[in-house]
Amino acid sequence: MDQRPLLPSDGLKKDPYGAHEPPIYQTSTFVFDRAADAAAAFAGETAGYVYTRINNPTVAAWERKLAALESAGTGSEAWALAYGSGMGAATAAILACVKQGDHVVGVRPLVDNTFATPVLQQPLALGADLVVQSSTKYLGGHGTVVGGGVIARDKAFVAGPLLGIRKVFGSVPSPFDTWLLLQGVKTLELRVERATTTAAKIVAVLAKHPKVAWIRYPGLPSDPGHEVAKKQMKGFGAMIAFGIRGGTEAGRRFMDALQVAKRAVSLGCTDTLIEHPASMTHAHLSPEELTEAGITADLIRVSVGLEDADELEGDLLRALDVAAAGVTVAAGR
Ligand SMILES: Cc1ncc(COP(=O)(O)O)c(C=O)c1O
Repeated sequence: MDQRPLLPSDGLKKDPYGAHEPPIYQTSTFVFDRAADAAAAFAGETAGYVYTRINNPTVAAWERKLAALESAGTGSEAWALAYGSGMGAATAAILACVKQGDHVVGVRPLVDNTFATPVLQQPLALGADLVVQSSTKYLGGHGTVVGGGVIARDKAFVAGPLLGIRKVFGSVPSPFDTWLLLQGVKTLELRVERATTTAAKIVAVLAKHPKVAWIRYPGLPSDPGHEVAKKQMKGFGAMIAFGIRGGTEAGRRFMDALQVAKRAVSLGCTDTLIEHPASMTHAHLSPEELTEAGITADLIRVSVGLEDADELEGDLLRALDVAAAGVTVAAGR
């Protein structure tokens, strides 16, 4: 029952009213003129929308955009499905590849391209079969949407098992959320370029700061991922991890002293978001699991945003000074 129009055009060349922006089709279901039309649509004999858990014109417009973004460098077509979250997308991709009792001996390479974004890295062109995106992050870019996507070149896989899994598990995004994504993604390239430039500046300062014990950023020649990143990425991105001397307590003082960057999880937002994984996103892990995942008590993760680079640098340096002085200040705004 695959009646979802996966083709780049769903039959309409443009909006019937000439709207510049795509309308939000905020409807759960679609009405048929005749019973025979409904039967034909459900049998997959005609393309058309039937129910928003299965397909929706606003969601489909976002899916075409998503596919185009991730295959921009390949010159070939890709197909995409959107989800209600990045975790929903990753789960669906895995469930569509394996079934109960399977033994995995030859695997489909699946790349989570959330940190890199399609602007900096094109996994399908590099040989991956599947790409997963948390569109919550850079694609949406403004911290207003939770969403995800799976992108592949194999149309039969997308229209078959992948769509089948989504129909059954129901992890669809809302038309309004995909409309927000269509707006946010327009500035993706500009945002990624700006954040990457600022990140490089911040890394240069942090790397020689006495309060910083270690730093991970793929743009640093000393970073274990540098050579691979140099070979396959157009830039090194805007995610930084560093260890602060003084461990958890110093980390807490640093976090509390921030006034420009926001103390928050997530990433890829217009605002710089800083988190302490051991006490926030990964607090549920045991000490052994934290060690296995490479998450040390002193680790601080920075997702660089679009603030003025000097202002952001000043904020981080001041917070490091506060952490070094061993005093606690009132939390910033
Ligand atoms: C790299 C990466 N992939 C996937 C996810 C999951 O995305 P979501 O929170 O949209 O479910 C996250 C969430 O932080 C992430 O950082």
